[in-house]
Amino acid sequence: MADLSTSICGMKLRSPLILASGITDTTGASLLRAIRNGAGAAIIKSVSVEPREGHKGHVVQEFDDLSMINAMGLPNQGIKHAIDELIEAQKRTDAPLIANIYAGTVEDFGLLAREISKAKPAMIEVNISCPNVHDEFGTPFSALPEAAAKVTKEVKKNTSIPISIKLSPNTIAISQVAKAVEKAGADCITCINTLAGMLIDIDTAVPILSNLSGGISGKALKPVAVKAVYDCHEVVKIPIIGTGGVLTGRDAIEHIMAGAGAVGVGTALFYRGQEAFSLINAEMKEEMKRLGYKSIKEMIGLAHH
Ligand SMILES: Cc1cc2nc3c(=O)[nH]c(=O)nc-3n(C[C@H](O)[C@H](O)[C@H](O)COP(=O)(O)O)c2cc1C
Repeated sequence: MADLSTSICGMKLRSPLILASGITDTTGASLLRAIRNGAGAAIIKSVSVEPREGHKGHVVQEFDDLSMINAMGLPNQGIKHAIDELIEAQKRTDAPLIANIYAGTVEDFGLLAREISKAKPAMIEVNISCPNVHDEFGTPFSALPEAAAKVTKEVKKNTSIPISIKLSPNTIAISQVAKAVEKAGADCITCINTLAGMLIDIDTAVPILSNLSGGISGKALKPVAVKAVYDCHEVVKIPIIGTGGVLTGRDAIEHIMAGAGAVGVGTALFYRGQEAFSLINAEMKEEMKRLGYKSIKEMIGLAHH
């Protein structure tokens, strides 16, 4: 019988599947729901220093097959709310709950890391890669190795909790960014955030999203994400949370064989509902049985020859 339990960065997971950030909200209830439905851990939506309303108008659109584009603009209720939610939720589960922080400046990343550590999350994911707030904050820190390293150092200075830097495919060399954040002290990387894109309504000749562009997730993102995980696994020793386009058990195994130690699941929840975790867990077990694998660990990085 295939065993899905595994561990990453000191976190014990009963399944390698982790609720990706932003798919639900900043409430503890949404994290607990994912855990109840079979996730091994859950990541809260990005939180900023102050509450944010996010973008107005049309912010999310499905397209083609099982794919989405969004420009939510990081709506959230601010750091104080997230601390309370994480503390209360962690009382109700043994599964690891993971924070996620977002800021426009290096200093604010440090402040958020210090503050969110009060909730004692199992890990802090550092979102340096949101493609949808360019107008407000300029080029994301994830675009350049030096900028990404600067944030990593500042966050490490302000917390003793393991951190995962969330990388972006919107860069010329994701593996260089991965190397830089590892050198700067990152304990883990999350590969990847959404890919910048645009849809245009040809009847009106107007971009569909109110923000004009947004981030692509779901099926269309999977090959981009698998390559990113593969490329990063070639150059770093720290573990990788592979994220992007995981809709089935096969997709999750693909990420693991590319080098992921755990796998984020986001857009799948829109298409398969809250049961996505239990369905993907069952599919993984089926595939592992068919292929003769008994554990997650033995599949990590198998595609590297
Ligand atoms: C509607 C939506 C909101 C998101 N919000 C966040 C967020 O607040 N912080 C973050 O780090 N990533 C956010 N993401 C990115 C996801 O965590 C994930 O990296 C991405 O969607 C790729 O995974 P998927 O194809 O399984 O959805 C968001 C994605 C979607 C679709």
